[in-house]
Amino acid sequence: MSVVSLSRNDDVAVITIDNPPVNALKHEVRAGLMDTLAQARDDAGVRAVVIACAGRTFVAGADITEFGKPRQPPSLSDVIALLESMPKPVVAAIHGTALGGGLELALGCHFRVAAPGSRLGLPEIKLGIVPGGGGTQRLPRLIGMEKAFPMILSGDPIDAKEALAAGLVDEIADGDLTAGAVAFARRAAEKGGALPRIRDGDDKLAALRADPKKFDDIVAANLKRTRGMHAPAKAVEVLRAAIEMPFDEGLQAERDAFSELVTGDQSKAQRHIFFAEREALKIPDLPRDIKPREINRAVVLGAGTMGGGISMCFANAGIPVTVIEASEEALDRGFGIIRRNYENTMKRGGLTQAEMDSRLGLFARTTDFDAVKDADIVIEAVFEEMDLKKEVFGKLDRIAKPQAVLATNTSYLNVDEIAQATKRPSSVLGMHFFSPANVMRLLEIVRGKETAPDVLATAIAVGRKIGKVPTVVGVCHGFVGNRMLRARAIEAERLLLEGALPHEVDGALTEFGLPMGPFQMGDLAGLDVSWRIRKATGLRAEVADTLCEAGRFGQKTGKGFYIYEGGSRTPIPDPEVEQIIVNASRRLGVTRRPIGKEEIVERLIFPMINEGARILEEGIALRPGDIDVIYVYGYGWPIWRGGPMFYADHIGLPYICDRLTEFAKNSGNKSLEPAPLLAQLAAEGRGFGSIGLTTKKVA
Ligand SMILES: NC(=O)c1ccc[n+]([C@@H]2O[C@H](COP(=O)([O-])OP(=O)(O)OC[C@H]3O[C@@H](n4cnc5c(N)ncnc54)[C@H](O)[C@@H]3O)[C@@H](O)[C@H]2O)c1
Repeated sequence: MSVVSLSRNDDVAVITIDNPPVNALKHEVRAGLMDTLAQARDDAGVRAVVIACAGRTFVAGADITEFGKPRQPPSLSDVIALLESMPKPVVAAIHGTALGGGLELALGCHFRVAAPGSRLGLPEIKLGIVPGGGGTQRLPRLIGMEKAFPMILSGDPIDAKEALAAGLVDEIADGDLTAGAVAFARRAAEKGGALPRIRDGDDKLAALRADPKKFDDIVAANLKRTRGMHAPAKAVEVLRAAIEMPFDEGLQAERDAFSELVTGDQSKAQRHIFFAEREALKIPDLPRDIKPREINRAVVLGAGTMGGGISMCFANAGIPVTVIEASEEALDRGFGIIRRNYENTMKRGGLTQAEMDSRLGLFARTTDFDAVKDADIVIEAVFEEMDLKKEVFGKLDRIAKPQAVLATNTSYLNVDEIAQATKRPSSVLGMHFFSPANVMRLLEIVRGKETAPDVLATAIAVGRKIGKVPTVVGVCHGFVGNRMLRARAIEAERLLLEGALPHEVDGALTEFGLPMGPFQMGDLAGLDVSWRIRKATGLRAEVADTLCEAGRFGQKTGKGFYIYEGGSRTPIPDPEVEQIIVNASRRLGVTRRPIGKEEIVERLIFPMINEGARILEEGIALRPGDIDVIYVYGYGWPIWRGGPMFYADHIGLPYICDRLTEFAKNSGNKSLEPAPLLAQLAAEGRGFGSIGLTTKKVA
């Protein structure tokens, strides 16, 4: 079967693309379009043409696997050039999503008819590139720069209704889409006259041409902080070209920008994450036909920092959720924050009053634990104390439905031990959300020794339903993300003792691209949390513990590694802290020296990579890519650096091994010695990217 076919509906030719799953524009599709378009053009019996797609969507993009490889003609630009030279009306019939190259194909057509609910966008920026098939030149000409700019810079699609209002589509077909598009095409043919080509329409840009400062205003109003990313700057450049250059020169500028970005390191990293995110959903020993359990109501235990955010995730996805707390006061506090969060989103225009009301209507609240009996899934988010968790799970076991999935949001505790507090450990697993839970996309799903396959499948399905990026990990202290962070925390403290100051350490990491460094993060989370854990396990961190002993718990006390003035969240370096650090170095007999940014980054990041290697050896993570996904979506790792394991390959494992060996020697800390897997890969001249699935046990 050909991926592109032509059929006739009387005098209208219907070209159908059928390249499951998403009708990506691979080479055969482009070639098929060239052939069928030429046929339709040359057939005197054809008066108009419709391009439609089989399956669940219109063309949802280019074939990403072709990126960065030598181009095989015809290119998408060739197809679009042919489209624009067609002497008969061509109508794109859009359903599902018209994204990237798909939307560019549609922009090459004379008209666009869309099914209700379809979505249209240019998401290239999310892969570190700009559109390469004329999208940056045609979209602003069609809908104006004010609307095109945010679409291209955010990569977010708009829906059919918005697209109709913007003039991106000409009609919404309520009934059968192809029939609607055929009727539209026939009407256009009957009407006759010049066919509209977007490349010729300049009136939407006239005002900007007359006053170029207007473009700068659009940039200023829409350009978010892009922190080291190349693609947004390039996108601005080529959008400016749409105003300043003739169409064909603008196209050339776009093509040059695309070629430069697509072969660059940033886009490679972003494509790696794109694939890794999808790969992470594949659990090799999970039967393909496994059916997730049905989820109609969730119960969240605890309305604190995490419980509140987690319950919002369910309500946002339309799933009724009951929140159970220990007291009415705690419920009031929790619901106060939930309401405020929604109101803030509404004020920013992200939610209508009606939407907010309907979401709030999905919440129920109670202090009666018996409400657990209605739950299909329970997420426990009470204090991080093993005895409390066990007590709660014991109670859950007595009250919850036999089929209920019982999940804990614990950050560190042993999920298997918690599961043993029930008589149904196969229904128990970890669902580790990240703070703020209603915002952060990562969901570490912690698979216990006895977790049943359908329970795991349910957690993955629920995670996707509530818009998270689920990644399955095994049981160990801190799972993947926090365990690697611990390796970093030890070195961060060590850097202070050796001569660095908190703002130097944090500054080096923010410059690297992380949203904040370890000390800002500690102040935000509360230094008392890890202090309590250290005290319980007999460990000491000289600087952090001294701060806590002085009542400096971070933002919540207005002082931590930094000082926060008048309730502000802006960290200000504090001379008192510097004194505490200098004294600590003296007490421990460590000679202070100046430490450069590069050393700071290596000292903090290489031990994380080393811990990542151990995590892979132990089978706690299934693939290096899973670790990368965890760091990008849960810890703000810059996506254009592709996650820690991808970054390691980029730097080169032999260098990392050598540095770690040095760090271990200088500090006497044996855990800094290269992990066997890291050493082995380095010796064999391989990278993490070469190992694919880990072969060890999964959980
Ligand atoms: N804060 C984070 O950044 C974060 C991130 C991921 C996971 N976690 C984990 O999530 C869990 C909750 O953390 P948090 O930061 O939301 O804590 P929190 O102190 O903000 O909230 C805990 C809530 O649980 C309630 N609670 C205590 N016992 C209860 C019981 N028996 N029944 C019902 N409610 C009860 C408390 O009243 C409190 O409101 C912990 O296990 C923590 O390790 C926290």
